[in-house]
Amino acid sequence: MEIVITESYEEMSKRAAQEVANLLNTKPNAVLGLATGSTPLGLYRELIRMHKEEGLDFSQVITFNLDEYVGLPKEHPQSYHYFMNENLFKHINIPPQNIHIPSGTTSNYKAFCQWYEDRIRQCGGIDLQILGIGADGHIAFNEPTSSLGSRTRIKTLAQQTIKDNARFFDRPEDVPRYAITMGVGTILEARKIILLANGKGKSDAVAAAIEGPVTSMCTASALQLHPNVMFILDREAASKLKMIEYYEWIQANLPGAPKS
Ligand code: F6R
Repeated sequence: MEIVITESYEEMSKRAAQEVANLLNTKPNAVLGLATGSTPLGLYRELIRMHKEEGLDFSQVITFNLDEYVGLPKEHPQSYHYFMNENLFKHINIPPQNIHIPSGTTSNYKAFCQWYEDRIRQCGGIDLQILGIGADGHIAFNEPTSSLGSRTRIKTLAQQTIKDNARFFDRPEDVPRYAITMGVGTILEARKIILLANGKGKSDAVAAAIEGPVTSMCTASALQLHPNVMFILDREAASKLKMIEYYEWIQANLPGAPKS
């Protein structure tokens, strides 16, 4: 695991954008796994800037999003389709046919989930997966006790997640109860994973994910099993890490470390 501690949300976002740009510069047809939520907004803003000002090219990029609410049509302002279009896709030159987001309105969820898994494989697998983390340690919508081997499927949202989402909907009964989400097992097959976290509210989840036991009670802890994971954190999100001095010492000395 590589732990990068930054001083601000902007620095965290720029560091992540640099990783994406480095990948696209060496592999212009890379497959990216993308997340929604407030955390990656700064990353998406920076990628848009790089596209507009520095010519970062998305014309061959393929994307797969982690999740979508069941029952929300693409045009719904709270759908992840809408979110991705507004916050990234409509501002860059990615061909629409290269974008994959789980369908919240398919008539056959089981078949759709299988198709999504197959499609990731057909595209050569995910080169770089971007993740956020929930306050309860979830990645994508893999709520606590999700199987660490899980695949793309329908997941019942935790009561806390439903409560947290209520503010975005007019009536409590409109808040989605289910999501379609990549599984932990699906995520672990990405070649590289970058988890972003900022703010105090994420500090317990980050500490549990990096330094706690591998447990389905914190599905992000499964990332400890992955050979190529980078956590990019701001100082608040990193504040409960017991080994913080060690991570910072490594960060400061990294250029001097032996290269294989
Ligand atoms: C979103 C997703 C979620 C979020 C997590 C953090 O696609 O998969 O796991 O990454 O809930 O959300 P924010 O970033 O809003 O704190």
